[in-house]
Amino acid sequence: MKRILAIASVIAVFLVVSVAAFAAEYPGWAYGFESQTSGPPQPGPAPLSPDPSPKKLPGSEFTFTRAQISNGFGPADWFPGDHPKMPPVVQYGKQPNVRACSLCHYPNGKGRAENAGVNGLNTAYFIQQMNDFRNGMRQSAEPRKNNAKFMADFAKNMTDEEIKQAAEYFGAMKWTPWIKVIESATAPKTHVNNGLYLKAEGGGTEPLGMRIIEVPVDAETTEILRNPRSGFEAYAPVGSVKKGEALAKAKNCALCHGDGLKGMGPVPHLAGRSPSYMTRQMYDMQMGKRIGVWVDLMKPVVANMSGEDFVNVSAYIASLQP
Ligand code: HEC
Ligand code: HEC
Repeated sequence: MKRILAIASVIAVFLVVSVAAFAAEYPGWAYGFESQTSGPPQPGPAPLSPDPSPKKLPGSEFTFTRAQISNGFGPADWFPGDHPKMPPVVQYGKQPNVRACSLCHYPNGKGRAENAGVNGLNTAYFIQQMNDFRNGMRQSAEPRKNNAKFMADFAKNMTDEEIKQAAEYFGAMKWTPWIKVIESATAPKTHVNNGLYLKAEGGGTEPLGMRIIEVPVDAETTEILRNPRSGFEAYAPVGSVKKGEALAKAKNCALCHGDGLKGMGPVPHLAGRSPSYMTRQMYDMQMGKRIGVWVDLMKPVVANMSGEDFVNVSAYIASLQP
């Protein structure tokens, strides 16, 4: 009996060692958290100031209040001429459980660092992702990331027809440059609001280290006005783009993601998209939180990538011309 127990424990140790696959350091920067200590979830956007004043945006003929701008069931559409007519679920969501896609991803689908750029995605890929969210196969490795949970809830409360309409709407637009990669030893001083880094009002810089800090070019028009024409800048370590390029060649990303990583069939395009988003996805896959059927193709790719690899390859991806 003793002997059997001894053998069993040797086997158990062996299993634990072989199953405990390589894991990268936690890339908190990609999730909007400084460290992986257990703590409160992202609290949701800072409360709106009770500011009923009409807001304007240069180039738009419309006027909206802050409450209208962030209305989850019909947010401001500053530039209706920039995109095709939105299907109802994109424009208004569906009461009570599905908020308008255009709130977070913007009517043009460009999205923001704390959510995702969703335009130009292949329809079959888009639908597959919504089904993965629905079925619990696409979760965040950061349990405090509330908006990823919301995303899954929306998918669960949508009909197949609504998902198809959203997929076709966003898929009909092209991804165009939105994020500028800046290699630098320092990043602007920032604070995080609901997963999004914003430049500190007082200005100043801090050492970047092995992170990418992705901030709206203009904090106010992004945060307060949700300006869908004002993009992002991503501060990345000096040399990261070149190192990322070498890694992408070595791992043959283009074999599946197409020339210039512009997408191929249902395999999503990566070029010019958010480096924070890209790292979150790769880390989620490595941690076994994003496990949709097509992720099997990505598993060996991310299996032994380090936190530094994620930084480099994401900086490279973001720097590519879409
Ligand atoms: C509250 C904000 C919010 C709203 C509203 C929202 N999403 Fe999302 N969405 C997110 C976040 C956050 C992610 C990325 C999650 C992550 O980083 O793990 C995401 C990711 C996605 C993705 C994955 C993109 C990819 O490249 O794989 C799709 C597709 C998507 N959303 C579709 C939709 C649709 C359709 C709607 C409208 C019904 C919608 N979203 C509404 C926050 C939102
Ligand atoms: C063998 C094919 C294959 C290779 C090689 C490959 N990928 Fe992928 N990748 C995929 C597929 C398929 C998906 C979609 C997974 C899904 O449906 O959830 C994907 C998804 C992704 C995503 C998530 C995109 C999104 O919109 O959410 C990222 C990021 C990514 N790959 C990065 C890379 C990088 C970087 C490399 C090279 C280092 C790479 N991939 C190599 C097949 C591949």
